[in-house]
Amino acid sequence: MTVFTSRIDRNGAAFRRNLEAFAVHRAAVEAARAATLAGGGTEALKLHRSRGKLPARERISHLLDPATPFLEIGQLAGYESRKEDAVASAGIVAGIGMVEGRACAIVANDATVKGGTYYPLTVKKHVRAQQVARENGLPCIYLVDSGGAFLPLQEDLFPDEHHFGRIFRNIAELSAMGLPQISAVMGQCTAGGAYIPAMSDETVIVRDTGTIYLGGPQLVQAATGEVVDAQRLGGADVHTRSSAVADHFAHDDYHALALVREIVARSATHPLPSPPTPPQPPLYDSSDIPGIISANPREPLPAREILARLLDGSRMIEFRARYGPTVICGTGAINGWPVGVVMNDGVLFSESAQKAANFIEICAQRRIPLLFLHNISGFMVGEAYEAGGIARHGAKMVAAVSCARVPKFSVIIGGSYGAGNFAMCGRAFGPRLMAMWPNARTSVMGGEQAATVLALVRQAQMERRGLTMSPEEIEAFKQPVRETYERASNPVHAASRLWIDAVIEPAETRNWLTLGLALAAGAPHEDTRFGVFRM
Ligand code: COA
Repeated sequence: MTVFTSRIDRNGAAFRRNLEAFAVHRAAVEAARAATLAGGGTEALKLHRSRGKLPARERISHLLDPATPFLEIGQLAGYESRKEDAVASAGIVAGIGMVEGRACAIVANDATVKGGTYYPLTVKKHVRAQQVARENGLPCIYLVDSGGAFLPLQEDLFPDEHHFGRIFRNIAELSAMGLPQISAVMGQCTAGGAYIPAMSDETVIVRDTGTIYLGGPQLVQAATGEVVDAQRLGGADVHTRSSAVADHFAHDDYHALALVREIVARSATHPLPSPPTPPQPPLYDSSDIPGIISANPREPLPAREILARLLDGSRMIEFRARYGPTVICGTGAINGWPVGVVMNDGVLFSESAQKAANFIEICAQRRIPLLFLHNISGFMVGEAYEAGGIARHGAKMVAAVSCARVPKFSVIIGGSYGAGNFAMCGRAFGPRLMAMWPNARTSVMGGEQAATVLALVRQAQMERRGLTMSPEEIEAFKQPVRETYERASNPVHAASRLWIDAVIEPAETRNWLTLGLALAAGAPHEDTRFGVFRM
């Protein structure tokens, strides 16, 4: 058993300097969050309320059990995206929350953002929420208020494999898995917006404000010449009396949300399980972590100091503590939930990669969920390491991560670069949830390295033509590369593209993981089958 002890001086100059540097990272995230929470802006919100409709986030808070948390997924989606689809939260609020004591995936269109229409990122986020529901066996609640596809970007959201159609296929498949699919129609829902309630198992519709139709009044008139108003075409009365596209008639938003709660209450879903061991706080406060992350991003993160502030009782049973020390592996707990921790403490060498692969294999066999704490510049490079088979040993770790069918969670706490990101269960490797701390960075390699690689390639090309580059020309060539990498590797950018589910504070990390671990514990287990490891 290792008990991590701390040697940090909370009154020292370094601690204060680090806190100040972290505050700059935090401020960038907070600015993005504030802009995002403004939704479609004051005017759109006023219009929305004047129609008797609650905003999306208020709908969710009225739906949830009082004083329970909402684990929001993709809050910053769309924030720093391409100019043409940079809309607040990608026009949809998604996450996991408790309804009648049951954890549910909740997806709510924000009609103040372009009529709740689906941008490419809206589709990606809706599909992501359904993926979280699928993996954790959760009912889905859709609070629908959407004009369907955002027509100018249709080619980026309609025809492809993971585009709009996937949302409806998912509804059918999740229902087939026995996971209740419940819709409340709380605004004008057209085309794709109409298919969500139509595909759901059980649907509520709100009088006057809710409509469901494949084509709105304008389209009907254009197509057939028929003149009909929105309510006669697809209002609550038509759909609960004549068409049976909806099942329950609600008088207003509050009534609709109460009906959804009743539907969840009588569904055969399970309450969240309790942790197998009593939760214990760490010996040291996790809110001190920003003070121990060096203000200089080139300095290594103090891995053991961080574990001392994340794990129950600051302890873990370490696996091969004396071997391959640049990766720390071991079994500990977060609020009573067992986790197999894989955490970087330096570059990955062949020994550390093999050790981690072996540890992942053990966790998969013992059904211990894995927690990856990324702080990795990549695998060691150089002649001796290539000759020693670093690619082969690294591949073993990547294969183990890929095939392990235990719940995996990833938090980028420092850098996450190149193949190191793959070996540490980056997004492509299916972590159940993935987050970054505000100071963290991720890209294929560091900006400085990328700038140097590209400059060397350019110099070699010039030399072939008998030309040379001056030091000033080299620097002028490198600077934009560095800037591009810095912009694209920061956590707000990653969150805006949905490469991660959330940007979280170090002090929030334990609670954020706790809900994920509890959900995973209640979900069905899958058996792991590994492929061929390159020995
Ligand atoms: N694609 C692109 N933009 C759309 C859109 C769509 N499907 N539907 C609405 N918008 C835009 C509007 O142009 C407007 O943009 P602006 O603020 O820049 O002017 C904004 O969304 C809000 O629309 P508005 O009609 O003013 O809001 P509303 O709340 O009164 O009505 C809808 C919202 C969605 C009910 C209504 O706009 C509508 O019926 N849209 C057409 C829906 C449709 O036919 N979809 C087919 C998809 S296949």
